[in-house]
Amino acid sequence: MKLCIIGTGYVGLVSGTCFADIGNNVICVDIDRNKIKNLNSGIIPIYEPGLEEMVKRNINQKRLKFSYDVNEAIKKSDIIFICVGTPTIKKTNSVELKYVYQVANKIKSNLNKYKIIVTKSTVPVTTGDKIESILKKNKYKSKYDVVSNPEFLREGEAIRDFVVPDRVVVGTKSKKALKTMKSLYLPIIKKTTRFFSTSRRSAELIKYASNAFLATKISFINEVANLCELLNINIEEISVGMGLDQRIGERFLRAGPGYGGSCFPKDTRAIVTLAKKYKINLSIANSVIKSNDNRSKILLNRILKILKNKIKNKNITFLGATFKANTDDMRESPCLKLIPALITKGAIINYYDPTGPKKEIEKFKNVNFSKNVVDATKKSDLIILHTEWNEFKQLNVKKLTKNKNVIVYDMRNIYSPEKMKKNGIKYYGIGR
Ligand code: UDX
Repeated sequence: MKLCIIGTGYVGLVSGTCFADIGNNVICVDIDRNKIKNLNSGIIPIYEPGLEEMVKRNINQKRLKFSYDVNEAIKKSDIIFICVGTPTIKKTNSVELKYVYQVANKIKSNLNKYKIIVTKSTVPVTTGDKIESILKKNKYKSKYDVVSNPEFLREGEAIRDFVVPDRVVVGTKSKKALKTMKSLYLPIIKKTTRFFSTSRRSAELIKYASNAFLATKISFINEVANLCELLNINIEEISVGMGLDQRIGERFLRAGPGYGGSCFPKDTRAIVTLAKKYKINLSIANSVIKSNDNRSKILLNRILKILKNKIKNKNITFLGATFKANTDDMRESPCLKLIPALITKGAIINYYDPTGPKKEIEKFKNVNFSKNVVDATKKSDLIILHTEWNEFKQLNVKKLTKNKNVIVYDMRNIYSPEKMKKNGIKYYGIGR
């Protein structure tokens, strides 16, 4: 099929490339001409394992191309995927939809034949209705269907999550559109994936409700971890014991520094704001947001306690800065609250992340990016394991630093407390 993907961010670029890889002809469009030029020469603007190779392969096989001529791309395509950003509007917590509506207007003026318009960006419930009302006024009087097809891609695992998803959700009442979407996804569905069709509004809400629930699991286990620390219980035992119940499931029950990223924080706030508009109080989602926002204060207090309130001129190292491993994304990463707070108390911060220095951290004073683990830890008083990158998992801390009193605060529980103790390293974990 001939697809047009509008927006080449995480969702658009991964979706467009994967659709090309299963045999479709895909034009990915973006207004950023420089980005388009780079993409056509195989330069990828995001860190997503496996994506660069897949983009190059599909460009070479002439199934994938990048363009900034959105009019032409829409005219030539049968299915148009809206994959533009839907960020949170600061202070209001509601979703910025102007980019979505700008695209809808572009589609309206190029609706030269029947097309299926698909919202893949995470959009509030009823956005599809509004897109429909924009398209109604198209001068060609063409027929069209507006479909919701939310993505469930995790950064760092996006290709796998696209090619082997737990489910494909499609929201439409049009039998014609449903048939086309089913055949588009056929190469993926046959691999034991559930193709779930529902109303458009249900599909829009499924996305928000799923992310809010996953965030709930994380905030729940993080709060239980706080309790475990006072009861001398290992949270990992609780996660395993709970997760063996199929109704709970073992995934998204790992205690850590709190959830970050571009989705959980945004989508939890959006669903609460949406509900408030209809005078509904999603009290659980609300408390999940508060719990996660408060987590950095809890971790900061723990650090003060570990250092016996002597922070001034202490060398504190962050291993990893991104909000999780296998991504270069710093959006709402927990360290963005911890680092400035520690600097204010006089700490000297070293950090290393496999994806390089971070502009969000470089703007602070008394911060130094080291280009590897050894440089980052040689003078450490406290080593904070912030992001669970694989290269940190086999560290021999004893060899890393000359400071015999170095302390390790493992915010992802990737180290063995017993091994640390045996090596004479003072060790703290999360919830254990
Ligand atoms: C999430 C959803 O998983 C995905 O389905 C949706 O499409 C986009 O948002 P993403 O934000 O990329 O994906 O990352 P994810 O792997 O879900 O982790 C989100 C946050 O939760 C990260 O900060 C991660 O460190 C944290 N997390 C995740 C935990 O603290 N514990 C866990 O057990 C799992």
